[in-house]
Amino acid sequence: MKISEKISPAISIKGLTKRFGKTVAVDNVDLEINEGEIFGLIGPNGAGKSTIMKTISTLLNPSQGKVEILGKDLSKNKPSLRKVISLVSDYSVLENDLTPYENLKLFSLASNIEDSDKKINEFFHSFGLEKYKNKLTKNLSSGNKQKLNIARALLKSPKILLLDEPTNAIDVESSRFIRRYILNENIKNGTTIVITSHYLWEVEQLATSVGIIIDGKIVIKDNIENIYKRFDSIINIYELTFEEKDHEKILTYLKDLSDVLAIKPVSKEKLIIDSKDSTFTMNNFKVSIRKLRPTLEDIYSYIISTPNQ
Ligand SMILES: Nc1ncnc2c1ncn2[C@@H]1O[C@H](COP(=O)(O)OP(=O)(O)O)[C@@H](O)[C@H]1O
Ligand SMILES: [Mg+2]
Repeated sequence: MKISEKISPAISIKGLTKRFGKTVAVDNVDLEINEGEIFGLIGPNGAGKSTIMKTISTLLNPSQGKVEILGKDLSKNKPSLRKVISLVSDYSVLENDLTPYENLKLFSLASNIEDSDKKINEFFHSFGLEKYKNKLTKNLSSGNKQKLNIARALLKSPKILLLDEPTNAIDVESSRFIRRYILNENIKNGTTIVITSHYLWEVEQLATSVGIIIDGKIVIKDNIENIYKRFDSIINIYELTFEEKDHEKILTYLKDLSDVLAIKPVSKEKLIIDSKDSTFTMNNFKVSIRKLRPTLEDIYSYIISTPNQ
């Protein structure tokens, strides 16, 4: 590729506003997500995440603003762009009274997917759902229903996969399977993925970039490493290691410090604290202090509790 050639982002959102009556669900949002990226969109309930996902997947029309997918205006190319975008939210889209096979077949027919039986069988195999193939979908566990829902979304080999809380209330093993499957899709096929989740460790595991949305406005968006770097000097998480005999004394001392926001006991010889103090010391105690990198949850909580940051 020539250096002068401009690479279009997979998703480009400019000035997107979505109103429902008087409610401004999405408020003048700009967002660019590059091809092959895994973008984590996080924010409180009602922040506008699902509205953005539904807009990208053509289920909702913007009140204002523009969405471009792979360089094409979404509003003018809906039928062709629908072929390359899949949205996964909860599994209520599945027909409970059909079998998993019938569900995938129905979706294949609706989406004009070629060679669908071969693809469907491959999915049943790789998702470990072969033995449920001809049972009624309503009798599947919620984890297996969600796996089936993911298979449904992947049948058309989407270039853009939108996952709106894909592992909400799903058991540990199924959600781990789903995360690994998604990562593999991204690595194998370069699928661009947007994921929303309230499980911030999940976003941490998956996302290359993160956006935080509050009241319909994006308050921060960056590569996840840049976000860690930026907040490493603002959020002060320390691991304190000491002798067991000093445990009570140290705990009592810390509880009285107004700069200490939270104390997490790890063992009789170890505590983790969150402090306002970026030069935290404990000179009168025999304690070894190690600064830890904040987690995405630490950063998120900091941003949510410190508006206009
Ligand atoms: N179809 C709708 N009709 C009216 N209001 C809606 C509709 N969908 C979402 N909203 C409102 O828009 C705001 C954003 O909702 P949503 O995008 O679902 O947030 P999130 O997914 O971040 O929890 C909320 O105030 C919600 O009540
Ligand atoms: Mg939502």
